[in-house]
Amino acid sequence: MLQIDSVSRSFAGVVALRDVSLTVAQGEVVGLIGPNGSGKTTLFNVITGLFPADHGRIRFNGRELSGLRPDQIVACGLARTFQTPRILHRMTVRENMVCAAYAGSPLVQRLGSCAQSRLDDLLRECGLDGRAHDLAKNLTLPEQRRLELVRTLVADPKLILLDEPAGGMTPAETKDKATLIRDLAAKGRTCIIIEHKIDMISSLCQRICVLNFGKVIADGTTVDVLRDEAVLEAYLGPQEAG
Ligand SMILES: Nc1ncnc2c1ncn2[C@@H]1O[C@H](COP(=O)(O)OP(=O)(O)OP(=O)(O)O)[C@@H](O)[C@H]1O
Ligand SMILES: [Mg+2]
Repeated sequence: MLQIDSVSRSFAGVVALRDVSLTVAQGEVVGLIGPNGSGKTTLFNVITGLFPADHGRIRFNGRELSGLRPDQIVACGLARTFQTPRILHRMTVRENMVCAAYAGSPLVQRLGSCAQSRLDDLLRECGLDGRAHDLAKNLTLPEQRRLELVRTLVADPKLILLDEPAGGMTPAETKDKATLIRDLAAKGRTCIIIEHKIDMISSLCQRICVLNFGKVIADGTTVDVLRDEAVLEAYLGPQEAG
């Protein structure tokens, strides 16, 4: 579904991504982890067309994404959430959803009698039923993250990139969010999840890719990656023998 081939990206001499390759198949839920500043968000930014890669290719369902605008990439079926939720604070939950629908999603062609019930279904699916007329700024952080997710679902994405979906949440809120993501995956949505909460990643993902200083240092099953020496060293520093 997604093929990233040898992607590199630097910022004024700081190498954020170094020859990164990653392939994600339809139906997979892949964890993308790594220490702070290792390039995880930059990889999402490059995939979603926020800024171009310096080198390398990204294809989604066989289509080259380089040169496409972010809205064109969303229209291909690839959507994302941000590390800090990007929502329209002074609008209601429903207005946020309608704006997302008008921002180039396929739903815009279908906005008619069915759209209202579809939006209600999405709110229910994401645990925001009854909140349609609340202002986004009055939602709690977990609710704002859910709203951002709802906004991506309006476009009916096939692949969702989630950047720290449980960032700033309590353990109970994190568990609820994991359940929501599991439900989305069970409905056939492919996901790549950036998260520092390793328990959440290991409960959701069969596979993990690890970045360190912009380079992929491990990519494999969750069990194998979490006991990989290079991964432990990246997180905990060099381990002394004995
Ligand atoms: N727009 C930008 N301009 C300049 N430097 C940037 C930009 N975006 C990222 N960087 C740099 O690229 C490197 C990777 O940053 P990135 O945000 O991708 O890390 P991350 O793995 O998402 O970290 P965190 O876990 O803290 O969110 C860092 O050194 C960062 O300062
Ligand atoms: Mg980040």
